[in-house]
Amino acid sequence: MRDAFAIRLATVADAPVLARHRAEMFRDMGDLAEELYASLVDAARRDLADWLARGQYVGWVASAVERPHEIVAGAGLQLRPLLPRPDPARRPLRQGLEAIVLNVFTERAWRRHGVARGLMERAIAWAREHGVVRLVLHASTEGRALYEQLGFVATNEMRYEGDL
Ligand SMILES: CC(C)(COP(=O)(O)OP(=O)(O)OC[C@H]1O[C@@H](n2cnc3c(N)ncnc32)[C@H](O)[C@@H]1OP(=O)(O)O)[C@@H](O)C(=O)NCCC(=O)NCCS
Repeated sequence: MRDAFAIRLATVADAPVLARHRAEMFRDMGDLAEELYASLVDAARRDLADWLARGQYVGWVASAVERPHEIVAGAGLQLRPLLPRPDPARRPLRQGLEAIVLNVFTERAWRRHGVARGLMERAIAWAREHGVVRLVLHASTEGRALYEQLGFVATNEMRYEGDL
């Protein structure tokens, strides 16, 4: 099945499809009210186009080999500097870039064919080559097994979304 799809780097021109992936991802996770769908797509498209242009976001899209213009899945990395920190394995300090994995989404008809795995492998390989020393993400129920297979582990992250 791996031969059935091709993966390439996303460009600024892909911002609309990446924004739609983001909204579809939240919808599938049950986290997006229908009345917010259009405004999320619109706002995400603007930010993604800007971040892609600035190099703050690197994305990948997958399409069927026979229909290269029809994008069936995507995934991306938002890059940010990592303040130097000790490494639990007591190796030299960990410093460089950290990336948060975002917008991992596969169209339903293409699920369970290894597309998201292929996208994530490309993202990890890119990170390794570009000074990213840590990847983080928030796993959906559907995504968790894939991330675990790739070597991601659960962490101690907490979140405050109270009086802000
Ligand atoms: C999660 C998602 C991106 C997976 O995409 P995909 O292209 O179907 O994933 P892959 O085919 O590469 O899956 C690779 C492996 O991950 C695991 N996996 C994928 N989807 C799974 C699911 N729904 N339940 C359990 N394990 C799953 C399986 O081990 C799978 O290998 P297998 O099919 O040989 O058993 C897709 O289901 C999706 O878009 N879901 C809605 C949005 C979402 O949750 N995104 C992730 C946000 S963190």
